[in-house]
Formats: sequence, structure tokens, C-alpha cells
Amino acid sequence: MLEMGGRLWTIQLLVQTLCLTSVAAFSNGKVTEACGSMMPKHGHAPNTTHAPYTLSVNVTEFSSGDYIQVTISGTTYFEGFLLEARNASNPDSDAVGSFILTNPKTTQLLQCGHTPDSAVSHTSDARQTQIVVIWKAPQNSPAAVKFLVTVVAHYKTFWVKIPGPVVSQSGVTPIPPKPTTPSTTIKTSTPSVLPRPFSSVGCGQQKSCLLDPVGCDPEKDPSCFFLSFAPKGQTVVFELSGPSDGYIAFALSHDTWMGDDDMYLCVRDDSLVDVSAAYVKGRSYPQEASENVLTDVAWRLADGVIQCQFRRQVLVPQDPTRFSLDAQYYLFMAYGEAENGEVHRHDRQPLISSQQSVINGPAEILNGSRSPLLMKFHSVLMLIAWMLAGSTGTFLASYFKPDWPERTLFGQRIWFQVHRGLMILTVLLTCVAFTLPFIYRGGWSKHAGAHPYLGCTVLALALLQPIMATLRPPPDSSRRWVFNWLHWGAGTVAEIMAVAAMFLGMGQQSVLLPHSWRLVVLAGFLAWVVLLRVLLGLHKKGYIKTRFCDFVSKASDTDQQRILADDSEDSTWDAWFKIVALLAFVIGNSGFLISFIHTISGL
Ligand SMILES: *[C@@H]1O[C@H](CO)[C@@H](O)[C@H](O)[C@H]1NC(C)=O
Ligand SMILES: *[C@@H]1O[C@H](CO)[C@@H](O)[C@H](O)[C@H]1NC(C)=O
Ligand SMILES: *[C@@H]1O[C@H](CO)[C@@H](O)[C@H](O)[C@H]1NC(C)=O
Ligand SMILES: *[C@@H]1O[C@H](CO)[C@@H](O)[C@H](O)[C@H]1NC(C)=O
Repeated sequence: MLEMGGRLWTIQLLVQTLCLTSVAAFSNGKVTEACGSMMPKHGHAPNTTHAPYTLSVNVTEFSSGDYIQVTISGTTYFEGFLLEARNASNPDSDAVGSFILTNPKTTQLLQCGHTPDSAVSHTSDARQTQIVVIWKAPQNSPAAVKFLVTVVAHYKTFWVKIPGPVVSQSGVTPIPPKPTTPSTTIKTSTPSVLPRPFSSVGCGQQKSCLLDPVGCDPEKDPSCFFLSFAPKGQTVVFELSGPSDGYIAFALSHDTWMGDDDMYLCVRDDSLVDVSAAYVKGRSYPQEASENVLTDVAWRLADGVIQCQFRRQVLVPQDPTRFSLDAQYYLFMAYGEAENGEVHRHDRQPLISSQQSVINGPAEILNGSRSPLLMKFHSVLMLIAWMLAGSTGTFLASYFKPDWPERTLFGQRIWFQVHRGLMILTVLLTCVAFTLPFIYRGGWSKHAGAHPYLGCTVLALALLQPIMATLRPPPDSSRRWVFNWLHWGAGTVAEIMAVAAMFLGMGQQSVLLPHSWRLVVLAGFLAWVVLLRVLLGLHKKGYIKTRFCDFVSKASDTDQQRILADDSEDSTWDAWFKIVALLAFVIGNSGFLISFIHTISGL
């Protein structure tokens, strides 16, 4: 359990980097919405048997300002609790007095009602058997105070408002208590089970739909993610469906970024589905709505698909975190794991609608993408930089230095001018592309594995190259070989790491290319580059030339003729061979690049 607490905490941190949906049920103890009823929001009924937990205090009477030690102890462990002190004559009223912690690691103070620190809860779902806290009697204390505690043994097993001792103020006669509202009267709305799956029939006519993949039908295709909304008077009926073991969710958002979103979740809990609303504030932990604003809830679980349906008022003035459905929003659709009804971060990047839609407006069919535009640009710019510009630049430097020795371009040899131009372009593209994920994520992404580290190293090496090149010693210097080796070494390492980064990048959630497709195409690209480099390497070493010469010598009649043919035809052939190889390299790389860009643009 300790481990689970840790994991849930980590997950909470993830909210900051990845747009995710996670709703606090009880595990982090931030349960202020449960202050009044003291009911955990699990959707389960409390245990009515005798609780194996007791509350005790070290006094029977007190005066204002006194400190009273309150102890929760169990014959068995518990994972969560909520402790309050209330007016014994009116136990349904707000919490009174304030608590002081003795162990801030496992317990935390909450504000219930208007009184700060008037309740205590757990900080994680680590198992405990005893909790000790101090209660400070307030100035205007009721004549008699009763302690109440809700204890959660484990997710579904909990006791609500276990009565504790009543302590009286010295010299004041308490009013006899009013009968407490029995906890059995707590109403839990009973959702119905959907008789049949949703259908995309009527999308664009009677209801607006967001479908992934495009045009799928949840009635026929279990892998279809489906969201529909249809205005009905002053309410809107929502239908949500998708393959998931844990949960599916959608959110209304003013922008395509996470944060300040109105979210609706359908969370599977064993054989039930819990449908709820939540609010994602900033990049922090989503908060479950305190008011139940969803009616006509229905759900269905079949073939690994979660489906749920509910109705919501267009305007919910009592809850400002429920957006008005008269306005237009981007729609997010997400799914992921859930454990004991608690949702974890979503498995894949959420699907985000490509345009805004008025929820209480005319029916339309919406398209969505799981890949944010910024991340697509990042991929495409990096691919242009390293598949085309960079690789052609290094290819030129490796094999074309001795060519066209007389011809110059702006006072420098051709290969050098083109090499320098392409490499500067590579560095510029890398710099621009590098910043995009940081803009999108709002910081470092902890969930991208080795890709960002490789990317940073590639950028560092890429920036080092022009600096090194500017400071290089003149060609005739005795230290020139040091530069040559460093420049070549850093370039080669950067290129290899760039390929590794591309490979890992294509597996990232935000630009997820089909697994086998990306393996094949990237392997094809690598094989192509290696093939041309081997070919030109052999040519440079003279192997290919020798073969050609042999051929020419056999065809020639006299030695004299052979030598003549050798000199002129050989160099012409050499030049042609290299030009053709360079063209093939550029065209081939462009082909691979275009197929990647085509696939990325379709995501
Ligand atoms: C109450 O909790 C006990 C375990 O302490 C369990 O055996 C029992 O089934 C629970 N009863 C209800 C009604 O939940
Ligand atoms: C009860 O505990 C509180 C807090 O530890 C302490 O201040 C107080 O003196 C104790 N009272 C008695 C009667 O022991
Ligand atoms: C406690 O409840 C009783 C009965 O409702 C009420 O008369 C009394 O004023 C309350 N005391 C405080 C301090 O609120
Ligand atoms: C949604 O995508 C389909 C197919 O790709 C296209 O025909 C349709 O025009 C798109 N709709 C919108 C609103 O972009």
C-alpha cells in the first residue's frame, strides 16, 4: 500500500508534464468536499457492522483554549480517515475547534466550513493502526463536543461517522442532542445499464460526434473512440464510448492545452462504472465536483469497451467549474488505467478536436488528432535537419573534398560552401525544433525516456561544430589534424545520436508512428545511407575505379590507347559516378523524408 501511495503521488506529479486525468478519491486525503457528509466518494455503501476502530480522548471536561489529545486506534489497519469535532447537540452542523498535528508525515489539517484546521485526514493510503492528534477548544465552544471519525480500511470497506467520546465544557449544561440523520438516508443515485451500444448513426444530424478513427461506429467497431452530444431543451445528453479497462474521459477546454478544463469521467470499478464530473485547474491535480450535476446516468461494459451516457444542464450556476454549454470549446478525449476506481495517467496522448464546437449548438462531425501541431513541427523540422540537410552536408564533406578544385563559389571551394551552408541550416533547424517540445510541455518532459537527453546532446554537439570551425587553425598548421579529427568525430557522434533520437522520437506518445512501419522505413533509410557511403568509400579507395580500368584495358587494343583512355575517360567517369551518387543520395533521402512527413501530417 505504501508503494501504491508513492505511485499515486508520482502520478500526481505527472499532471504537470503530461496532460492527464486523475481524480482524487481518497488516497491523498484532500477530501474537503466530504467535510459535511464525511462520506468517501467511492460510490460504495458504508459498512454497517461494528467498526474495529475506536476514538478516545484524555479528558472528560474542558475549558476554552484547552488542549485535548484525540486518539484513533484500530484492532486492524486502516488506509484513510477523516476526523472532526462537532457540536454534540447538533452533530450535523459544521466542525468546531482546530487540530494540531503530532505527526505531519502521516496526517494533514483540512479546513471544513469556515474554521481553518477543523479536520484531520491522512496524507497517503499507507496502512496505519493508530493516529494521535491534539484538539484545541475554541473560544465560543459548544457546551458539549463530540468527536466523529470516518475510517477507510480499504477502498470499499469503510465506516462513516464512527461516534467518539463526548466532552463537556466545565460548568456548562449541554443541551440534549438532536437525533442524528441516519447514514442510510444518504442518497446515491442509481445509474441504469444501457440496453445496447451507442451508434454513430445520426452523427452530424441529430448529434455532434467526435470519432477516432475517422468515421468509426462504436456499435460495430470495438476499437472506436466515440463522443457525441445532443442538445435536448435546456440540457445536453452526452455519450462516451471507447476500449479501456480503466476509464474513458472527455474534457471541455478553452484551448488545446491542458488546464482549466471541465472534465467528465467514466471510471470502471469491477463490474460497475462510476460517472463523475471533475475540474482540472492549471496544471494541478483534478478535483472531483462537489455537487452531483449529472442526471440520467447510464453505462454499459462489454467486450472491453466502456460506454456511458449522462445528461447535464446547459448552465450550472451552483458550480462555477462546470462550463456553460452555450459556448464553444475544444474537446479532449482520453483513456487509461484505473485502480479501485482511481484513475491513473492516460495511456496515450489525448485526442484533441481540430476545431472548437458549440456544445449546445448545431450538430456537426468533428475531427481530432492525438498529435499536437507543435510536436508535429518539432518532428518534421528535426527530420529535415538530420535526414536531408545534415546527412547531405556530411556526405559532401566525406567524399567531395577533392572535386572541382578550381571552381569556387563566393571565394571558397564548392564542396565547402555547400557543406557549410547545409550544416548551418541543420544547426538552425535543430535549434528551432528543439524549443518546440519545451513550449508545448511547459518544461522538461519526464516521460519521454532517453529521447530528450539524446536531443540535448545532439544540440550541444551541433552548436559546438560551428564554434570549433570558426576557431580552426589554418590548413597548413601543424595542429590542423586535431581540428579535422575533432570536427569529424563530433559530427559523426551527433549524426549517430540524431538517428537514435529519431528512432526513439517516433515512439513518443505525441507523434506516435505505427511501430512496424517506423522500424521498416527507418531501417530502410539507414541501409540506404550506409549503401551509398560504402559505395563512395570503395570508389574513394579506388576499388570501383580498378574494376572499371580492368574493363577498359580489356576493351583497349594498345597500351598507348589504354593510357589515353585511362586518363580522360577515367576522370570523366569518376565525376559522373560521384554526381550520380550524390543525386541518388539526395533524392533517396528526400523520398524517406517525404514518406515520414506524409505519415506525420496524417496523425
Ligand atoms: C464490513 O467489514 C467486514 C470486514 O471488517 C466485512 O467482512 C463485511 O463484509 C463488511 N460488511 C459490509 C456490509 O460491507
Ligand atoms: C491531554 O493531552 C493534552 C495534549 O497532549 C495535554 O496538553 C493535556 O494536559 C492532557 N490532559 C490530561 C488531563 O492529561
Ligand atoms: C450547538 O447546538 C445547539 C443546538 O442546535 C445550539 O443551540 C447551540 O447554539 C450550538 N452551539 C454552538 C456554539 O454553536
Ligand atoms: C474530417 O475528416 C474527414 C476525412 O479525413 C474529412 O472528409 C472531413 O472534411 C473532416 N471534417 C472537418 C470538419 O475537418
